Amino acid sequence: MAERMDHEMPIMPVAASGGHAVAAVVHAPVIAAMTAAAVLGAGAAAASAVAGTANAVAAVAERASVPAAARATAPASNIASVQRPSGAHPVLEVRDLKKHFPVKKGLLRKTVGQVYAVDGVSFTIGKGETLGLVGESGCGKTTVGRTLLRLTEPSGGQILLGGTDVTKLSKAEMRPYRREMQIIFQDPFSSLDPRMSAGTIVGEPLMVHGVGNADERRARVAELFGRVGLRPGQMDNFPHQFSGGQRQRLGIARALALNPKLIIGDEPVSALDVSIQAQVINILMDLQKELGLSYLFISHNLAVVEHISHRIAVMYLGRIVEYADKKTLFTAPKHPYTEALLSAVPVPDPAIKRSKVVLQGDVPSPVNPPSGCHFHTRCPIAEARCKIEAPKLVEKAPGQFAACHLR
Ligand SMILES: Nc1ncnc2c1ncn2[C@@H]1O[C@H](COP(=O)(O)OP(=O)(O)OP(=O)(O)O)[C@@H](O)[C@H]1O
Ligand code: SF4
Ligand SMILES: [Mg+2]
Repeated sequence: MAERMDHEMPIMPVAASGGHAVAAVVHAPVIAAMTAAAVLGAGAAAASAVAGTANAVAAVAERASVPAAARATAPASNIASVQRPSGAHPVLEVRDLKKHFPVKKGLLRKTVGQVYAVDGVSFTIGKGETLGLVGESGCGKTTVGRTLLRLTEPSGGQILLGGTDVTKLSKAEMRPYRREMQIIFQDPFSSLDPRMSAGTIVGEPLMVHGVGNADERRARVAELFGRVGLRPGQMDNFPHQFSGGQRQRLGIARALALNPKLIIGDEPVSALDVSIQAQVINILMDLQKELGLSYLFISHNLAVVEHISHRIAVMYLGRIVEYADKKTLFTAPKHPYTEALLSAVPVPDPAIKRSKVVLQGDVPSPVNPPSGCHFHTRCPIAEARCKIEAPKLVEKAPGQFAACHLR
């Protein structure tokens, strides 16, 4: 669990009901770092900006230590060198997950190609662990999240929840597993029904799953409001009466309603003001500490991901190209793509110098992506072999996996 930083400043009274209320705090250095945060996806300039910002956060944030349960888990299936823990199952194990969308054309809607949105992704998430999933726009992050929840059906691979393969379960069979895995969406404005009261929105999952009677559900909703730093007195208000940050708190409370083990946050703070981002992230980290939650935290913003994650997976065109604990990833990246993203990081120690890697061109289309290593069209060290042979994600150093023939 990443530790809180100093300079905490309470900004909102903690609701009294429920007994487990979460104090909302602002971490000034995080806000400062996030203010400078840039977005992946605009080539080398953006990569540099992101890397620099990430380092700024790194400079102020305590490095997280990976919980024992998380350390015991390892990336899965198509990775040859994985050591599996005996007995214990990770909260989530994803093996060679694929999602290909058909591209249809013409009056007859003939399939003329495939979008290789997710093309063989494997990872695990342990109890109390946060895996950050980063990558440029269109690399498949949201599709991974949606496929895990089976909001979109996978084209291949396996999704194991606590060791149970849920990939082929029917809707009815899937029902108990749905409770274990919840999602927080990016946009707190469009994801909440404006006609429903805040209390009804947060309590809806309890209703859908037939949990408790009306009084019990209302009491649970009041407790959830307290947990995310909202007042139970606000339960009868409507979404338009809440600020963006408060709406995202509602989204978190709703995601917590059924006591899930895993929460998928798909860019959960990207739509928020920088100062509010820090509050929401701190709430998520507090809840993780308190409830032992696991997170898949999807973001294009390396600064945010570094702050909250224990391990980070970097995606490029539907595949994970590097996967390591965050300290290793930020200090000793193996993959040229990760290296490029981080190459402009201003290192606090002037004695340490990093060489700059400037990426050429834009991300290719995931419709018919480049052969072999998808990154070869932009890789500064590509060789002939890279155009033909796709590199496997293999363990290059203990706990550090990368997909590159040359590193
Ligand atoms: N329903 C769909 N039908 C066809 N193509 C899709 C569909 N959903 C996503 N895609 C394509 O899959 C690819 C991955 O999209 P996805 O939304 O997962 O990317 P992302 O990494 O979340 O991007 P962003 O950072 O912009 O949110 C994109 O090329 C997208 O156009
Ligand atoms: S496999 Fe080749 S193209 Fe791909 S990242 Fe490694 S060196 Fe670059
Ligand atoms: Mg997305």
